[in-house]
Parts: sequence; C-alpha cells; structure tokens
Amino acid sequence: MKILFCYHSQSGNTALACRALGQRLNSASWDFFDVAKGSLPDLHSYDLIGFATWTYYLALPPFFEEFLSRLPEQNGKPAFMFSTFGVMAGQVLVRMKKMLTAKGFVVLDGYSLHVPESYPVYIAQDVHSLEAPTPQEMTGFDGFAARMAGRLERIRAGAAPQPAKIKLDIFSRLISPASLKKIRRDMGPLTVDSALCDGCGICRQVCLYDAIDSAMPPVFLPDKCKGCWACFSHCPQKAIYTGKVRGQGHYPQPAAALTAKLTMTEQ
Ligand SMILES: Cc1cc2nc3c(=O)[nH]c(=O)nc-3n(C[C@H](O)[C@H](O)[C@H](O)COP(=O)(O)O)c2cc1C
Repeated sequence: MKILFCYHSQSGNTALACRALGQRLNSASWDFFDVAKGSLPDLHSYDLIGFATWTYYLALPPFFEEFLSRLPEQNGKPAFMFSTFGVMAGQVLVRMKKMLTAKGFVVLDGYSLHVPESYPVYIAQDVHSLEAPTPQEMTGFDGFAARMAGRLERIRAGAAPQPAKIKLDIFSRLISPASLKKIRRDMGPLTVDSALCDGCGICRQVCLYDAIDSAMPPVFLPDKCKGCWACFSHCPQKAIYTGKVRGQGHYPQPAAALTAKLTMTEQ
C-alpha cells in the first residue's frame, strides 16, 4: 500500500505531524507532497491520499482551499484528513470533507491535533499552547494512527472504503470563521523597519499570495494579503511589524518540545 500525504504547513507543525503519522503507519510506504509547490501531485500510483493543513482563522487557508479545488475528479479514491490547531480546531475538517467528497474521494477519517500556537497576535499575548499536545492528546493522535492502520488493512483485504462522519465540537459550531475583510482589518497594515531589513527577500519567498512587491524595503499589497503572517514569522531580522505586534510573537518553525514529542526514534 502506498500513501501520499498532501500537506500545507506554514511553520512546520503540520509537516512534522504528517511525518509522525507516516512513521506510525509503518505497514505502508508513503511520500509527501508540499502543497506550497503550487503544482498538482500525480495521485494515480497511491492507494490512499492524506490531506493535511494548519488551521487558518477556524477554516482552511485560502492556498490549501485553492489546491483542493484544482484536484482532478476521483472515482471513490480513499482519503483521510488531518489538521493541526493552536486553540480551536474550527471547521477545517468539515469544510475539507465537503470539498474532497465533491471531488469524488471517499473520506475515511479525520483528526485535528492540538499543537503550539503559531498566530503571532496570540503568542505575543502569551497564548502559546506550548504544552500541547498533552499526553492525553498524544494518545488521541496514536489512536487515530491505529484506526487508520486498521482501515488500511481492510482496504488491503479488499473491503470497500467507508466514508466517515465528521462532527464539529460545540465551540466550532457556535463560532463561525471570520471574513477576509475582518482578518485584514484585525491585522492592520504591515510595515517594515528599514533600519532592520537587510533585503534578504525571504518575506517574498514565503508569501504564497504574491502580496509583497520587489521594492527595497518591501511594500505589502493589502489587496492580495490574506493575513497569514508568514512574512512576519519568517523574517530573520524581525523587521516586519503591525500596530499590534512588534519584535515578538514569531513562530518560524516547530517548538522544540513539539519536535521531541512527535519524533519517533528509529528502533
Ligand atoms: C494566521 C493564523 C491563523 C490561525 N488561526 C487559528 C485558528 O483559528 N484556530 C487555531 O486553533 N489555531 C490557529 N492558528 C494556529 C495554527 O493553525 C497552528 O499553530 C498550526 O499548527 C500551524 O501549523 P504549521 O506550523 O504547519 O503552519 C493560526 C495561525 C496563524 C498563523
């Protein structure tokens, strides 16, 4: 059995968790496809496709949503979903399932893992979730991997894939994702401290929305910006700031504690 993980990860939590999941599904072989490449993967040679993303304001990041919308029509190909979140999982799995089912995938299961927060505004307010995932949450993750391993076995034995029911938790049912207008308004204008900026261009490289022009220092294009904070978090000089956050709240890569929890040492 071959699995392809199509993942979208801005600061590495989701990519790391996908690798941890792959290690736990060790009866199969797996490959990874980073959605940020912009192209589409060839799904034909895989028996099962995993779709994984980070949580963007209680919903799917626009880049990932666009990736899903470009996938070719399927005829019952088995898939599963995975997401990481810092505070509230929101509607990610429900929205993803709707899009994948409309494409003709059979969605077998889905799981959202609580991990450290990467939203700079929250980190700056000391809402880090650095303790996540707790031992109990790790048990949930291991349980999901075991369920998926069981499903793989059944597919291998020739059973028809069965679609999962994905339920929203009570909070995610009550709180709707914000509009892009509100996201941008809450973020406020991005500015560069030209005394700190060394013109490395990393902000432009990590912006998936082409929202930073090639001027020096960079100029942000509010009509294209989706409020993802990738430029802010990845700026090595911490030169990018807003009215709310300056010089703190960056999350460019997984917290060391998360890496330690998720990385299985080879036996
Ligand atoms: C712009 C932005 C919005 C976010 N919105 C949410 C959210 O609505 N709910 C949540 O639980 N976490 C939210 N997060 C946290 C991330 O989803 C979480 O830390 C995730 O693991 C990051 O994954 P990555 O490292 O693979 O990019 C947000 C992070 C960012 C940067």
